[in-house]
This record gives sequence, structure tokens and C-alpha cells, in this order.
Amino acid sequence: MLIDIKKLVKIYELGTIEVPALNGVSLDIDHNEYVAIMGPSGSGKSTLMNILGCLDTPTEGMYHFSGEDVSRMDDDQLATIRNRKIGFVFQTFNLLPRADALHNVELPLIYSGVPSARRKDLAREALEKVGLADRVEHKPNELSGGQRQRVAIARALVNNPSIILADEPTGNLDTKTGEEIMEVFEKLYEQGHTIILVTHEEHIAGHANRIVRLRDGLIESDESVKKNGRH
Ligand SMILES: Nc1ncnc2c1ncn2[C@@H]1O[C@H](COP(=O)(O)OP(=O)(O)O)[C@@H](O)[C@H]1O
Ligand SMILES: [Mg+2]
Repeated sequence: MLIDIKKLVKIYELGTIEVPALNGVSLDIDHNEYVAIMGPSGSGKSTLMNILGCLDTPTEGMYHFSGEDVSRMDDDQLATIRNRKIGFVFQTFNLLPRADALHNVELPLIYSGVPSARRKDLAREALEKVGLADRVEHKPNELSGGQRQRVAIARALVNNPSIILADEPTGNLDTKTGEEIMEVFEKLYEQGHTIILVTHEEHIAGHANRIVRLRDGLIESDESVKKNGRH
């Protein structure tokens, strides 16, 4: 089991007001699953992703990641897990505007202390995987939206993480480009990666093998997706 969470509760404190975001979520995710998390705005999707990604900690409940109890870790320990085991893809790409694609992709390796020549090799390899071998020297403003998101996916991949987390990865892209990005995720899934993505679009979620629906901070349904020769 890669992810094992039990009765996860998250309450945000806003001054004296308590805002409940997760009200007791239990979820198991295995290696090489491809999961879409859906639900209306405010249902707790991003909160859950942030906890899954060790960017935030739960108020109550248990989270074991790769056999380790991350719900009890301090900030430094969480940062180490994030760096080594989790790749993030965001709706807004979050690339460094002045750095070319290669440099953007090698950043996580700089943080983990990989020597320069090796970094560049790994970054090139990751850019090849997402079909951008011919764009390594382009800066974000010299790339299309879809290409920028591919750079972000390459950056998420470069550390060979146990899991790729993507929060609305197609939210800023037109339908056709969004579908192209989904093909990249599909390929990664076929290569053995574990992917969890948040989306509010059914046709995007349909690419996953499992759909978890949240409502009011609780899991409303958790179903595997039937694929009827969609391709
Ligand atoms: N940093 C925060 N501080 C206070 N409340 C928050 C914070 N982030 C989210 N919330 C609240 O928690 C609930 C769940 O939010 P969120 O996880 O962002 O939902 P979703 O991603 O499904 O739209 C909402 O009621 C939201 O207003
Ligand atoms: Mg959200």
C-alpha cells in the first residue's frame, strides 16, 4: 500500500472561527493506481491533495505514506519526503519565468544535491518523456500553455517520485490541449507511475482508473472506471 489514510480531519482556524475542510476521510491507494478526485468547489479536494503531498498536516487522523507515519512528522521531515517521493503539477504551471525548460526541470535535483552533469542528463530525459526534447532551451514565455504544463510534468517526474499529484492540471488549458496533457499522464501511468489528479471535469476524470468523489469533506463515492474501448 502506497497511501493509507484513516479518518482524516482538517479544520482551518481563521481567528476564532473554525472551518472544517475534511470530516473523516479514509482512503487507500496502491502503487500504479490512477485516481481522479472530484467534487464541488469547497468539498475539500485541494485540502486533501495538500495533505497527500505533505504540504500540510491533518488536524486529526492517520496518514501513512510508503509505510511511514507522515501525520506525525515535523516540517523538515515532510520537506524531505516531498523532495524525494512526490512530484507536483499545478493548474498554473508554477515555472520560473527567466529559466529555460532544462533549468526548470533540474531544479528539484539541485535541492536534492545531484551533481550538475547528472542533473542535466536527467532533466533532458524527463523532457524527452513528455515530448519536449526539442524545447529544452525555451523559456516559459516561448512555449505554449500545453508545452509549459509538459515542462511542469517533466519537473514533477525528474526525481522519479513514488507519486505524481496534479491539482486541476488542465484547468488553464483549452479542451484540445487538456486532452494532450491527459495523454501524457496516461503514458506515465502505463509506464508504472502512480497518479492522483483533482479535476471538476468528468471527461478529464474519465482518463483515470478510479474516481473518488468528495462532498462536504467526506468521500461520497469511490468507484473504478469502466473503459469501453474509449481509444
Ligand atoms: N487556508 C485556508 N484557510 C481557511 N479555510 C480554508 C483554507 N483552505 C480551504 N479552506 C476552506 O476549506 C474548505 C475546503 O476547501 P478546498 O480544500 O480548497 O476545497 P476544493 O479544492 O474542493 O474547492 C472550504 O470551505 C474552504 O473555504
Ligand atoms: Mg481546489
